[in-house]
Amino acid sequence: MTARKIIIDTDPGQDDAVAILLALASPEAVDLLGITCVAGNVPLSLTSKNARIICELAGKPEVPVFAGCERPLGRELVTAEHVHGRTGLDGPDLPDPTMPLADGHAVDFIIDTLRSNPAGTVTLCPIGPLTNIATAFRKAPDIAEKVQEIVLMGGAYFEVGNVTPTAEFNIYVDPEAADVVFRSGVPIVVMPLDVTHKVLVTRDRNDRIRDLGTPVGLAVAQMTDFFERFDREKYGSDGAPLHDPCVIAYLIRPKLFSGRHVNVEIETGSELTMGMTVADWWQVTDRPANATFMGHVDAPGFFDLLTERLARL
Ligand code: BDR
Ligand code: CA
Repeated sequence: MTARKIIIDTDPGQDDAVAILLALASPEAVDLLGITCVAGNVPLSLTSKNARIICELAGKPEVPVFAGCERPLGRELVTAEHVHGRTGLDGPDLPDPTMPLADGHAVDFIIDTLRSNPAGTVTLCPIGPLTNIATAFRKAPDIAEKVQEIVLMGGAYFEVGNVTPTAEFNIYVDPEAADVVFRSGVPIVVMPLDVTHKVLVTRDRNDRIRDLGTPVGLAVAQMTDFFERFDREKYGSDGAPLHDPCVIAYLIRPKLFSGRHVNVEIETGSELTMGMTVADWWQVTDRPANATFMGHVDAPGFFDLLTERLARL
């Protein structure tokens, strides 16, 4: 199997950090061309710093990390310090990065990478608000047909919402950007809350990661310990959902997940349901399918994969 070329578009975020680590630990499956940062969980200055902290933690300072859009397409930025802490990476005590940001804007890196690679060979992996991806599609409409696939974390159907009663954070922060992406015609795989709320870092699972006895294992365990307190209080759940790593796990082992190829549209008009992913799960409309919306995951298989891969770093 040749490694799939990917760009991770991200707003780290502890779960984003674990997604980046999983990708960096799996070079036979994914060839990480670059990391593009966006404002989301915390402002851009912190997300673009946190991505570099994680590359250095993994011993991979050569991965180019680009700063992207500072705010959503048409609205004020909403952040999530109440979940991720003031830095976005609260939990472990990690040093500031010494590697610089790569030159240029994240959006231009996405455009240039898609133009300079053969059509259908680069996969986009957005795990934050979709501002950078939508901006790239608007600025360079020719690139959409060159994307192999978009595999993203965002949205919900049965779980409905986490930041409002009807919206998931990544889509809610920039619904106009999500609308551009879901209308782009690019093949899309969605990891919604329906899946990620089943991928819970229970104490046993976190202890297995901590017991790796490596700086990476310890940092991940401390990150998820921090992250967990919020979900335990909110949902009473047994551990934090590892949302974003589902995207990378899908690229490595797609059979861990299953879902339906359906129509998904984004609410951009109603304040009450702003950012809702209206997924036609029961296929009650004749709107054309535009996304594979995942619903099920083999959670023990996911954690076996994650633990085995983190042990490599
Ligand atoms: C998503 O929002 C962020 O807080 C997480 O990093 C994840 O990407 C979950 O709703
Ligand atoms: Ca994220």
